[in-house]
Amino acid sequence: MNIAIIGSGGREHALAWKLQQSELAEKIFVLPGNGGTKNNIDLDGANIPDLKAFCFEENISLIVVGPEIPLAAGIVDAFEDSDILVFGPDREAAQLEGSKIFSKNFMKKYDVATADFQTFTAMDDPSDLIEEMKGNLVIKFDGLAAGKGVYVCASEEEAFSAIEDIKVKYGEDAEYLIESKLTGQELSIIGVTDGININCLLPSQDHKAACDGDKGPNTGGMGAYCPAPLATEELLNIIDETIILPTLNGIEAEGFNYKGVIYFGIMLDDDGPKLLEYNVRFGDPETEVILPALKSDLLELILASFDGSLGEMELEFYDEYFVDVVLTSGGYPGPYNKRKVINGLNDLDDTTLCFHAGTMKEDNKVLTSGGRVLNIVCKDKDIKKAVDACYSEIKKINFDKMNYRTDIAFKALKK
Ligand code: AMP
Ligand code: GLY
Repeated sequence: MNIAIIGSGGREHALAWKLQQSELAEKIFVLPGNGGTKNNIDLDGANIPDLKAFCFEENISLIVVGPEIPLAAGIVDAFEDSDILVFGPDREAAQLEGSKIFSKNFMKKYDVATADFQTFTAMDDPSDLIEEMKGNLVIKFDGLAAGKGVYVCASEEEAFSAIEDIKVKYGEDAEYLIESKLTGQELSIIGVTDGININCLLPSQDHKAACDGDKGPNTGGMGAYCPAPLATEELLNIIDETIILPTLNGIEAEGFNYKGVIYFGIMLDDDGPKLLEYNVRFGDPETEVILPALKSDLLELILASFDGSLGEMELEFYDEYFVDVVLTSGGYPGPYNKRKVINGLNDLDDTTLCFHAGTMKEDNKVLTSGGRVLNIVCKDKDIKKAVDACYSEIKKINFDKMNYRTDIAFKALKK
């Protein structure tokens, strides 16, 4: 079958790479794709009439959506009356990611383990709560904010200034929530669901802060690895019981049309694992390690979510660690340069995977075009060797002001 992947990041390059390995896959297009993907089509996935015309012309049977925005805009609903399968939740279910308040209310209704919270609008005065919690709390703007709507506060002053910031950025009528602050390591669990069953890929860890030691501003993700050794079988069973199964019960009870990916962003608090957020799509950069670690056919897995066979499918994984270090343009997540020539890509070992993110091709050269530029992925049965392999491969690559974290997966090494 012919497939269209929507998106342009490392996640979409990894999806195209993995889907192409399936015997069921024929031509795979990426809309708009990047300097590493083939069959790029310069088409905006959110433009439904153009997307439908393209799918008809190229005989597309399946659309795999990378980013959340087309899902929140209702791409699944828009194709409901066609023969084309769109892998993802419908618009209503996509609010699990698109609206923090919707998702926290869902968690509460279905008894999913999460931090306590209260919701507010600009009309309300949260002073009492902020004083009571001594400013030691987390404030979240309700809507999609590309990772910028969450304020982890340590004082009353920080909390009040976060609320001012929300009003300035998102309007006087912006809704937000205040929740208790949790502490601990974070874990990403990503699964494919048909709305009743779920098949989870390997547990992974992202590195969201820009600098070593989890310091500096938040980014889209500076690296990832899997399987995360801290996710013991015992812990995964608790997560199943307190987070994943209650979520599936909720999806079924609400009658969501959800044949897609569900991502659980979990904090391993002293008080037990707590759900921080849902994403309704593959995580980036987690996808760049969990797909290489998956031995089973991804296309079969996706199709099983549509034909009712997901519950019977047993996934197989490689018995190795996979580590991804993201190379960024200096300055990211602030302002950074573009159009810098990337050298050394042909020198990488055959076993190294290189998923492009912010790159473009021009005159046989590969140039930078975004903040997160490349994902260098290495594997080994020994996690330390996988990490070392990544950093030694990175030495072969260079572009002006190339930057990266030097401690990806170090948390796993310490264990
Ligand atoms: P979210 O988009 O809700 O996952 O939040 C983004 C990031 O903020 C998370 O990955 C955490 O690092 C942090 N965060 C969110 N909620 C909390 C919380 N209740 N306590 C502590 N940190 C949090
Ligand atoms: N890695 C977190 C995300 O994709 O939002």
